[in-house]
Amino acid sequence: MSVRTFPHQAKFRTLIYSLYLSYLSSLHCSFDLRWPWSVCQTLRHMLSSISPKMPGILLPLALMNVVPWKKTSRHSKAAEAMKTCYIASSYASCSVDEIAAAAPAALRWFQLYIHRDRTISERLVRRAEAAGFRALVLTADVPYTGKRRDDIRNHFRFLSAVKLKNFEGVFEGKDCSEYGVPAGSIDPSVTWNDISWLRRVTRLPLIIKGILTKEDAELALSHGVQGIIVSNHGGRQLDGTPASIDALVEIVAAVENKIDVYLDGGIRTGSDVLKALALGAKCVFIGRPAIWGLAYKGEEGLRKVLEILKEEFRLSMALAGCRNVSEIGRHVVQYSKL
Ligand SMILES: Cc1cc2nc3c(=O)[nH]c(=O)nc-3n(C[C@H](O)[C@H](O)[C@H](O)COP(=O)(O)O)c2cc1C
Repeated sequence: MSVRTFPHQAKFRTLIYSLYLSYLSSLHCSFDLRWPWSVCQTLRHMLSSISPKMPGILLPLALMNVVPWKKTSRHSKAAEAMKTCYIASSYASCSVDEIAAAAPAALRWFQLYIHRDRTISERLVRRAEAAGFRALVLTADVPYTGKRRDDIRNHFRFLSAVKLKNFEGVFEGKDCSEYGVPAGSIDPSVTWNDISWLRRVTRLPLIIKGILTKEDAELALSHGVQGIIVSNHGGRQLDGTPASIDALVEIVAAVENKIDVYLDGGIRTGSDVLKALALGAKCVFIGRPAIWGLAYKGEEGLRKVLEILKEEFRLSMALAGCRNVSEIGRHVVQYSKL
């Protein structure tokens, strides 16, 4: 069984199926099948001696859960069981406290958007801190919601039964039918100066999600953040952006190991993990596959997704001649497209 087969096993309603599968109309920024990097195989195949420990498939997906019967808290429980990290979305359907209570021992980071009304964001940060979240992940690529043509075609509307629990009582009386919060509630005028504001609000380590150029990576570095996630938001924001794997190489070179570089987008197999690590990512995040696993069989389904990726990663390492994560390097991959 491979992770790609999960969406077909899970029983999604059409509307939700396309939400969890779709990206923008053009394939330029699509996330899988188009990674132009190939893995090189070598003769050193000692599977039994390969360290089975994942370099951290951090299970991140800041996913807003529009599937009411698949609670976000199951993300964190599966992450806890698999000893990996979970990034909870501001827009999750469980509150930060519920997520923390479901998996108190899990390593949890909190994803934040900066709202026009800064007190909303500030209050959320305080709640996440109090609930034991260990880092803040600021999403930088959603000043506006991208034009999601599948959602438009399907007349996507937020299910009224699902509440964004972190915002209970906050947007009372306002129309939240689009994505659970009023349209335009995120501040589109956020700039790098707002990092200083966030620094004053919290002492948590700060990670910026949605970096795709070396210039932005350098700015992140100069603004004192602890890490960046190279990401094109799963191809859901700007049509035509590069695949995150293609942006990774110049970004890794630009930051010269001074901050952590992570990657998301298109991780579907263990060899995808290997490629990303070989090109310099410290670890990778998975998004949609997590929700496919949950939709297939709840927490067990998600654990299955992680186990498959872990085992495939171990095998890929072995076939590429690497006995442990530290032996993975640039020599493991080739660029296979002009
Ligand atoms: C349904 C859906 C909801 C998402 N919600 C958020 C969110 O609330 N915050 C965020 O930073 N990213 C969000 N993302 C983007 C993911 O965090 C991630 O960047 C992307 O899905 C990674 O690509 P992958 O799905 O190919 O692994 C969402 C993605 C999907 C598909």
